[in-house]
Amino acid sequence: MTAEEIKRVLVVGAGTMGGQIALQCAIHGLDVALYDVSAGALAAGMGRVRGYASHLTAQGRTTTAVLDHIQPTTDLAAAAATADLVSESVPEDPALKGRVLAELHALCPPRTIFTTNTSTLLPSMFAAATGRPERFCALHFHLPVWDANVADVMAHPGTDPAVVETVTAFARRIGQIPIVVGREQSGYVFNTMLNALLGAALELAAGGVAPPADVDRAWMGIMHTPVGPFGIMDAIGLDTVWKITDYWAGVSDDPRLRANADFLRGYLDVGRLGQKAGGGFYDYPEPAYRHPAFLPGEEL
Ligand SMILES: NC(=O)c1ccc[n+]([C@@H]2O[C@H](COP(=O)([O-])OP(=O)(O)OC[C@H]3O[C@@H](n4cnc5c(N)ncnc54)[C@H](O)[C@@H]3O)[C@@H](O)[C@H]2O)c1
Repeated sequence: MTAEEIKRVLVVGAGTMGGQIALQCAIHGLDVALYDVSAGALAAGMGRVRGYASHLTAQGRTTTAVLDHIQPTTDLAAAAATADLVSESVPEDPALKGRVLAELHALCPPRTIFTTNTSTLLPSMFAAATGRPERFCALHFHLPVWDANVADVMAHPGTDPAVVETVTAFARRIGQIPIVVGREQSGYVFNTMLNALLGAALELAAGGVAPPADVDRAWMGIMHTPVGPFGIMDAIGLDTVWKITDYWAGVSDDPRLRANADFLRGYLDVGRLGQKAGGGFYDYPEPAYRHPAFLPGEEL
């Protein structure tokens, strides 16, 4: 199958990433089914998608008619039956991803290409579970998908090279700059660098060296960026950052990663999951780091 032959995309998981991927595909002329196991999560996800569509319409980058090409659904069998490409964005857990893709293997036609949007896992960890390892690789997006438009394409040793080619051309077709990763690497290219930054920032705060606002102030003041590592984590979702940190703390037995996971857990325990929950390290929709007084460290 060539990238031009891909007409229908099934996005699995309507959370932070799934909704953005669905909208990006629709903006580039594809018909999209957006599936979630939870009707509540699907409704919330579609609410976010409508918000993004209005925002991009106001910027003249699309029209709200694009929403007609996104079909929210909780009927996996019906959505799978016509899917040419699956983009999986369920939580970062290899066993869950394997289970979800195995279920899809039974429901999708043999031609369907499976992709995972995993942040840090390796496709080979659950390639066998997909039932079609040769038609499976990672296609990993960055947030927000329409502006941070770089996508990693990463095969596992059993991926058919023709599938990598199709997925790479598909990434271009939906407005992404594809980076084909030479061999499996947790975190691909950009996230390998980003994870080192976020891990160091968490270590500074968890170890009492500097509070989150000062860590962000240092990064923003020197790098002249509009956001620092803690603001970035709020955008990603602290539950997702915790899940990744907790998983790798378990795998590596690294006490620094465990301390970072425990530090994040403190925020989750009080419902501060980040921007999507209205609060994380900062309060939203007007986080302190966007205030002109933040960088000079004046009283807000
Ligand atoms: N948040 C980011 O910045 C980001 C960036 C790139 C990649 N990722 C990766 O994308 C994936 C999803 O992350 P997210 O931030 O969107 O998570 P999220 O928690 O916001 O969304 C996950 C969604 O999956 C749904 N879900 C759970 N089990 C499911 C199942 N069995 N079938 C279908 N849906 C199910 C949940 O209801 C939820 O809506 C993860 O692998 C993450 O590492 C995240």
